[in-house]
Parts: sequence; structure tokens; C-alpha cells
Amino acid sequence: MNEPLIEVRNLKKHFIVGRKKVLKAVDGVNFTIQSGETLGMVGESGCGKSTVGRTMLRLYEPTSGEMIIEGKNIYALSARELKQKRRDMQMIFQDPYASLNPRMTIRDIIAEPLDIHKLTSSKQERIARVEELLDLVGLNSDHANRYPHEFSGGQRQRIGIARALAVNPKFIICDEPISALDVSIQAQVVNLLKDLQKKLGLTYLFIAHDLSMVKHISDRVVVMYLGNIVELADSQTLYKNPSHPYTKALMSAIPIPDPDIEENRVGTVLSGDLPSPINPPSGCAFRTRCPIATEKCAEVKPEFQEVKDGHWTACHYVD
Ligand SMILES: Nc1ncnc2c1ncn2[C@@H]1O[C@H](COP(=O)(O)OP(=O)(O)OP(=O)(O)O)[C@@H](O)[C@H]1O
Ligand SMILES: [Mg+2]
Repeated sequence: MNEPLIEVRNLKKHFIVGRKKVLKAVDGVNFTIQSGETLGMVGESGCGKSTVGRTMLRLYEPTSGEMIIEGKNIYALSARELKQKRRDMQMIFQDPYASLNPRMTIRDIIAEPLDIHKLTSSKQERIARVEELLDLVGLNSDHANRYPHEFSGGQRQRIGIARALAVNPKFIICDEPISALDVSIQAQVVNLLKDLQKKLGLTYLFIAHDLSMVKHISDRVVVMYLGNIVELADSQTLYKNPSHPYTKALMSAIPIPDPDIEENRVGTVLSGDLPSPINPPSGCAFRTRCPIATEKCAEVKPEFQEVKDGHWTACHYVD
């Protein structure tokens, strides 16, 4: 295989909360993303997905670990080098209402990264580039002088995508980009992201709550639980042959009938709440909700091991 575009090594992000309590939002995750690939990331609310994304872009300083893009660890860069590298990495946010400044025109929103990186040299060039970007995401260039409130959720998400594309990034983190949209609009935005990926050779980390959302866009998928990755496989394998009890439980939680998933429903329903990342269970973090947990699971943290080519699982009892 080629060198991956992205390599995340033993990444940790701990927050200090309350009276010196440590909240282990991300506690040692490893994965790679090949150039042109989409890696899906799923897991329940609070398992650390957004924190992974934000720490990867160094919007949060990491507690430890490495985030390597094209061979460069971005945590080891000076402020100047980081600013340069930031152009290669962009983010699309979940909430297309909150993520666009209501007092800025669409032109200024999309051109903001161009201004920050001084990428256009004249007013005309700036206008032309915004027009080009609006066109790329399927919006009319007449829209440039309007304000965010004049647009629907789906259109706003297109504006967020245009803004992310302004600096010609290589890698985009899509943090639940469709969860806030009407179901009827979700597929349009996913298709737009796919088209853009093909056209521009983009690499994505695509974060979502549930497996059905990442299925169609991801080449491979990682499943997170309480700050850890518990399973990694190509999409087909993950759906057809999930091996971690948590992944199986997530499948059972998918409300929409899906033939691939129906086949693998094992009747495991997630019981109990997600434990607190301030005081996570010993051993395997999932053991308190796992139907097959034993004493060993409380004592020994399972290693993340390759069960088959490219299929990795952290469970003592994989078949
Ligand atoms: N800035 C912060 N300070 C303290 N704790 C934080 C901070 N950001 C996130 N957390 C905590 O870290 C954990 C992971 O949060 P995160 O937002 O990464 O989860 P998520 O998987 O993205 O959830 P969701 O699906 O709801 O978006 C949670 O317990 C959250 O409360
Ligand atoms: Mg999140």
C-alpha cells in the first residue's frame, strides 16, 4: 500500500474538568487514511468523535500522540508552519445554522479563508473565486450578497462546504455534516461530497452517530466507544461481519430496516448509559454493557488486534 495521507498515532485528548478531574475524551486512538479515501467514524454521543477531529486539526492541543499529514507531524510544527499546513486540512461542521456568522454575507463567509491566507490579489479575483466555489457546490452566484438566514439548511451546508474548499484542501473532516438536515436533503449533501471528492481528489474523515449514515460514503469505518477505537474494517465487512459486541449492538439500534444489517441483528440491545469518561470502567471500557463480558474483561484491556486482513477488533472474545 502507498504511504497514507493521514496517520494518527496514539492520540490522546484529556480535559481537566471540575476540581482537577481528568476527562479522557480521546484515550489513545490509531488509524490511517489513504489519499482519496473516506474513513467513516461512528459511535454514540460523547464517545469522542468531535474531539478526535478537532485535535487532529489542532483546534485543541493534544494531550499526547501524533497527527501526521504527508509525513509531517502537525503537533511538532511552529506557528508559521502550522498556518501553512492548515490550508491542507479543513472541517465541515454539524450545525449549518450555528457555523455561519449571521452578520456576514455569503461572499465574505466563503472568502474569509482566502483573506486569512492571502490567496487572492484583487477584489475581482476574490469575487471570481467565490463565484467559482458557489458553482462548485451547486449554488447560484447571485447568492453571494445575501445573508445566511435567507438559506435552507441544505443550502447553508453547501455554503459551509464552499468555505472549506476555498483554500484547496487535501483533507476534510466532515463532523456530522448531515445530521441536522431533513432526511430528504441528506442524500443530496452526501452525493455532493462524493462528487467533490472525485473531482478534487479529496480525502475525508466522515463522522456520524450511526452506521447507516456512513455506510454509503465510507471505504472503511472505525467504531469508537468511550474515547477508544473498538473496531476497524472496510464498510462491507463491518456491515456483513461485525465482530465487536459494541458494533453488533449499534447495528441493532439502527431504526431503519436495512437488509445488510437485518442479517446481522443479534438481538443485543444496548442497555444502560454510556459510562463517564471521567471514571471509565477498568479493563475493557465496554464491559459494563457487554452481553458476553467476563472477569477477564474487567481486569485486562483487550488489545486492538487484526482478526483478518485489515479487520481490527479490541475484544478478548472475537470469534
Ligand atoms: N472543551 C471541552 N471541555 C471539557 N470536556 C469536553 C470538551 N469537549 C468535549 N468534552 C467531553 O469529551 C467527551 C467527548 O465529547 P465529543 O464532543 O468529542 O463527543 P462526540 O462523540 O463528538 O459526541 P456527539 O456525537 O454528541 O457530537 C464528552 O464527555 C464531552 O463532554
Ligand atoms: Mg460531535
